[in-house]
Amino acid sequence: MQFDTIIDDLAERGWSLQRRFLTSDLTLDLAAECRRREARGALAPAGIGRGEAVAVREGIRGDQIQWIEPGQSALCDGYLAQMDALRQALNQALFLGLEEFECHFALYPPGAFYQTHLDRFRDDDSRCVTTVLYLNPDWQPGDGGELRMHFADGTQLDIPPLGGDLVVFLSGDFPHEVRVTHADRLSLTGWFRRRPADILNL
Ligand code: OGA
Ligand code: MN
Repeated sequence: MQFDTIIDDLAERGWSLQRRFLTSDLTLDLAAECRRREARGALAPAGIGRGEAVAVREGIRGDQIQWIEPGQSALCDGYLAQMDALRQALNQALFLGLEEFECHFALYPPGAFYQTHLDRFRDDDSRCVTTVLYLNPDWQPGDGGELRMHFADGTQLDIPPLGGDLVVFLSGDFPHEVRVTHADRLSLTGWFRRRPADILNL
């Protein structure tokens, strides 16, 4: 069971790469959904930060995104259901107290990248676990666009965005970046959240 491997990896080292998490059919369908959203102009330049502080700064990240909401399509609802099952499995095994999942399509056109960052905002530690699902069935070795993970011991790992592969990691623990892509690079990026500490009164 794929969830068991993800749970073991997160417990042992804080991150996991699950090859072929989705079937190629489902991956193609989600890629087509991302393209449909692009075609109707629904993708918008991603911002940095959150709320009113969001600023679009292309020097930092060059992707275009659209958030997924429940009820937009049966396909996306299916993915949200799968991620909710993962959320419950993580909570049962690792007591993470994850309460929500938020997720967006992302499209990096050629030349786009995302500089090294952490998936946590300075003023909000509610993002707990990051998930990135890649939607590029024909990715070639020269296409760039690798996810580069930086580890505490100074080593790094480049992960190509191969269709159907899922990367999961503890959001606050791994600086990471997206290397310059040379082809359209599609993904579904999400975060499991717990309630912010100020709501829990910690
Ligand atoms: C992000 C991010 C990584 C990737 O959207 O915060 O780091 O591989 N994405 O797309
Ligand atoms: Mn990130």
